[in-house]
Amino acid sequence: MKYNRQLTERIAEVAEVAGYLWQKGWAERNGGNISYNITDVAENLCGHFFLVTGTNRRMRYVCSSPMDNMAVIRISDDGRSYAIVAEKYISPTSELPSHLSIHDYLLGRGRNQKVVIHTHPIELVAMTHNAAFLGRDVLSRLLWSMIPETRAFCPKGVGIVPYALPGSIELADATIAQLDDYDVVLWEKHGALGVGENVIEPFDMIDTLSKSAQIYMSGRAMGFTPAGMSDAQMQQLKEAFNL
Ligand code: 13P
Ligand code: ZN
Repeated sequence: MKYNRQLTERIAEVAEVAGYLWQKGWAERNGGNISYNITDVAENLCGHFFLVTGTNRRMRYVCSSPMDNMAVIRISDDGRSYAIVAEKYISPTSELPSHLSIHDYLLGRGRNQKVVIHTHPIELVAMTHNAAFLGRDVLSRLLWSMIPETRAFCPKGVGIVPYALPGSIELADATIAQLDDYDVVLWEKHGALGVGENVIEPFDMIDTLSKSAQIYMSGRAMGFTPAGMSDAQMQQLKEAFNL
């Protein structure tokens, strides 16, 4: 496997964001995983190639030693299996069913989003433990209303995926069902998943949503429920920023 300049840059990009996930406290032990469709920068080979974090690998070590903790896989021509093509044998994340189904969906839709990130942001996950927040767009509206940036930088809001076993096809299918409408989904009582054109984009969206969740939580901790921006204020933002 030859690491050309573009591939080296993408590995560094994943390592950078893996470091953020760890610093944020969103990546306890081996929590979270990242995949990157690198087909366009892999040389001399056909089929689809993905850079994926390894199962049971710590984000803090993906950051410090990326290719000791990530795999490059090539999907077979019939799409039924994959081969590990990096020198070092690292088993891909247990969430590969979700990651690959999502990449398949994104490619099928002609969307230019090459990255899938899954992580465990504390406050957002905590919010999914409240059934009252799980209705369609209830959390989107609440999180948007906490700070203008969330409305501006996460214009689609968040989708909700009911609890399903980690790594399961059921989880993958339920996630895809949300991706027509959302770029970030919350997996009930588990984590967040975001898609984007590069690793920074979904990280920033999850980070912005997380900031809103923290503002909400801070208000509650101070003894009040944050009022939130009004519908009219959010509508004004929508018009001003063309959201
Ligand atoms: P992996 O270590 O297999 O990537 O699993 C981490 C995780 O967060 C599962 O949801
Ligand atoms: Zn997880």
